[in-house]
Amino acid sequence: MVEKNEKEQTEGRLQRLWRKPKYWWLLGIPVGAWGMFVIGLASMVGFEVMIHETGTEKFCAGACHSMEAFTAPEYRDSIHYTSASGVQATCSDCHIPHVYPQKLWVKATSGTRDIIGEIRGIIDTREEYEAKRQHMAERVWATMKETDSRECRYCHNAEVFDISAQSEFAARAHEQGPAQGKTCIDCHKGIAHLSPDEAAVKFATSVPGADTGAD
Ligand code: HEC
Ligand code: HEC
Ligand code: HEC
Repeated sequence: MVEKNEKEQTEGRLQRLWRKPKYWWLLGIPVGAWGMFVIGLASMVGFEVMIHETGTEKFCAGACHSMEAFTAPEYRDSIHYTSASGVQATCSDCHIPHVYPQKLWVKATSGTRDIIGEIRGIIDTREEYEAKRQHMAERVWATMKETDSRECRYCHNAEVFDISAQSEFAARAHEQGPAQGKTCIDCHKGIAHLSPDEAAVKFATSVPGADTGAD
């Protein structure tokens, strides 16, 4: 008997707890939930905007003097900027992984490095830029080799290459390349920028230790 009463009492209390809004503090639950939702939404939107804004060509090519002056014009001359079909690859398409968490990691680390470089002014002039080009290019090549040209493959799917529509030269390379352990970047250097050797000719600089930039 006593036991039952206790049980009823507990149940009653629980029911009251949920049913009666006169326990004003209970409003804290939905209010808190909405609060969290709004804060969550705001930070999510903020995050998306930040990720998006720092991934545009306008930002990547325009925020730093060196990119604006030296990097962007070469890219704008390339097929990845303008082509018959108008499909475009922008800076982040090739240089930033498209998946989390790698995307955040690369944005944070390369962003920090680039900002420090910009502040120190290490590639402020054409001479400085050319002196560093080989080194910068090698770093990109090494990353692409490591990831099996992952960023290229977001757009170019080698599995559906219509080999018969390609030149004989390209078809042969694409058929034999993978078997030789070659990835896109092994054969396609300088597809968005001048390769170091092209730059050396164009800007008549001699970069010590520069290789040809192609295999
Ligand atoms: C955002 C999409 C995208 C990404 C990423 C991308 N490409 Fe392209 N690529 C294109 C488009 C679009 C063209 C224009 C020609 C076409 O329609 O096939 C193109 C053209 C090319 C061509 C033909 C060049 C020519 O002169 O005809 C090569 C080679 C190439 N890409 C290699 C690469 C390599 C290597 C990477 C990675 C470093 C890469 N692409 C990354 C979209 C992309
Ligand atoms: C073994 C070297 C080699 C490898 C590896 C290679 N390519 Fe090529 N590719 C060539 C050659 C050579 C051509 C033809 C000459 C040219 O256009 O530069 C070519 C041409 C192309 C073209 C233009 C095709 C056309 O007919 O318009 C595209 C796009 C392309 N490659 C993308 C890629 C992508 C993406 C990868 C990685 C999945 C890749 N290639 C891997 C050597 C290679
Ligand atoms: C289609 C892919 C692609 C696009 C688009 C692209 N890059 Fe690159 N980037 C590369 C590759 C590959 C290299 C390595 C050098 C080479 O082969 O040209 C490179 C090299 C670089 C370098 C080192 C210096 C050099 O010239 O080698 C910088 C800096 C750079 N990219 C910045 C940018 C910026 C900024 C943009 C946009 C304005 C951009 N890239 C667009 C693929 C790309």
